[in-house]
Amino acid sequence: MIDHGLIDRTGRRVTLRPVDDANWRAVADIAPLDAQRAHAPALAARYLLLTLREDTWHSLAVYGDEAVTGHVMWARDEDGSYWIGGMLVDGPEQGRGVGRAAVRTLAAWLAEQDGCEVLRLSYDPVNTAAGHLYTSLGFRPTGEEEDGEVVVELAASAAR
Ligand SMILES: CC(C)(COP(=O)(O)OP(=O)(O)OC[C@H]1O[C@@H](n2cnc3c(N)ncnc32)[C@H](O)[C@@H]1OP(=O)(O)O)[C@@H](O)C(=O)NCCC(=O)NCCS
Repeated sequence: MIDHGLIDRTGRRVTLRPVDDANWRAVADIAPLDAQRAHAPALAARYLLLTLREDTWHSLAVYGDEAVTGHVMWARDEDGSYWIGGMLVDGPEQGRGVGRAAVRTLAAWLAEQDGCEVLRLSYDPVNTAAGHLYTSLGFRPTGEEEDGEVVVELAASAAR
């Protein structure tokens, strides 16, 4: 379990845990709001399949106390940077501080991993909620784009 001691706005402790035999169905069923379908898959099941099919990404379940509330994943790039992806909070759970706590928790944990100097992620520029969230956490544009998405980064030293 990855626990950075953060709580959401309803007082729940936000932790990240492996996807396992007990929680994979709940994680797979995590779904965005209909209006978010332009920049999110219909279900987190898509991310679970990606992490099963390739060695690149590693999925984690986002918990609020003992409830599965979201999905997030991470990867290590060949250049030694670490990436965050697949951030998806279940529609009814959004706006409660789960996403912010999950990204902060994962960023702090990744920053402690072997050789981690920088954290990166990308988002669709029209996704203002994601843009505001990552900017407020200190992520800044690298000037690169990936598949039409803005690439932003945060020094590991700032995430610890
Ligand atoms: C982006 C997302 C992960 C945020 O999760 P969340 O749990 O709702 O976020 P939080 O409650 O922690 O809020 C964090 C910030 O997100 C922003 N935000 C959240 N919902 C928002 C909305 N409906 N409109 C605008 N901004 C919003 C706010 O800036 C908020 O900042 P604040 O803490 O200063 O209020 C969630 O909206 C989501 O799963 N969206 C669909 C998938 C997606 O777009 N993922 C990101 C791909 S890069």
